[in-house]
Amino acid sequence: MSGGGGRRATPRGPAGLPALRAALVGAGALLQAGATAAEQPQVHYMLHCQGCHLADGSGASGAVPSLRDQIGRFVTVPGGREYLVRVPGSAQSSLSDAELAAVLTWMIRAFGPAEIAATLEPFSSEEVARHRNPPLAEVDSVRRELLGRIEAGPGAPPGAPESP
Ligand code: HEC
Repeated sequence: MSGGGGRRATPRGPAGLPALRAALVGAGALLQAGATAAEQPQVHYMLHCQGCHLADGSGASGAVPSLRDQIGRFVTVPGGREYLVRVPGSAQSSLSDAELAAVLTWMIRAFGPAEIAATLEPFSSEEVARHRNPPLAEVDSVRRELLGRIEAGPGAPPGAPESP
């Protein structure tokens, strides 16, 4: 009996857990401090999205696409705004339509590209409600198609909402 071995009480979680925990503590502190309306979307991002997308939007290579200098490009092509609402991480979150609209708007402003964020028409709760159901099932093919449109060049003017 040399001690040591059998008494480790701390469960070993996945490697990302400490970071996630730190993020949640940060979000909790913001909430306790009484997050202002402007901070609210960031708090929701921290609580509902950041676990996969990370604080800086960089995601996880091969598993979660980076949002950095990318998420805003979707709004420049037809179907892109709808895609951002319908992708399962968005559509199936527990956020209300208004909260999700604010988080998506915040994400584009936070992660860019800056020139698209600058002229972005904010998402509205009506727009989210219109597209949210049903969530996208065939994510990969729709995403590939949109990336192809983005690659092909400017379509709709940046940030312009689509007609219903
Ligand atoms: C469980 C992990 C996970 C969580 C939590 C998550 N997402 Fe995602 N998200 C993904 C993955 C994986 C993709 C890539 C598309 C797919 O396979 O669904 C993605 C894609 C996206 C995209 C499109 C980006 C692109 O390049 O295609 C948006 C927008 C998005 N998520 C928003 C959100 C929002 C908003 C939240 C929080 C309310 C959120 N996600 C929470 C995993 C997650």
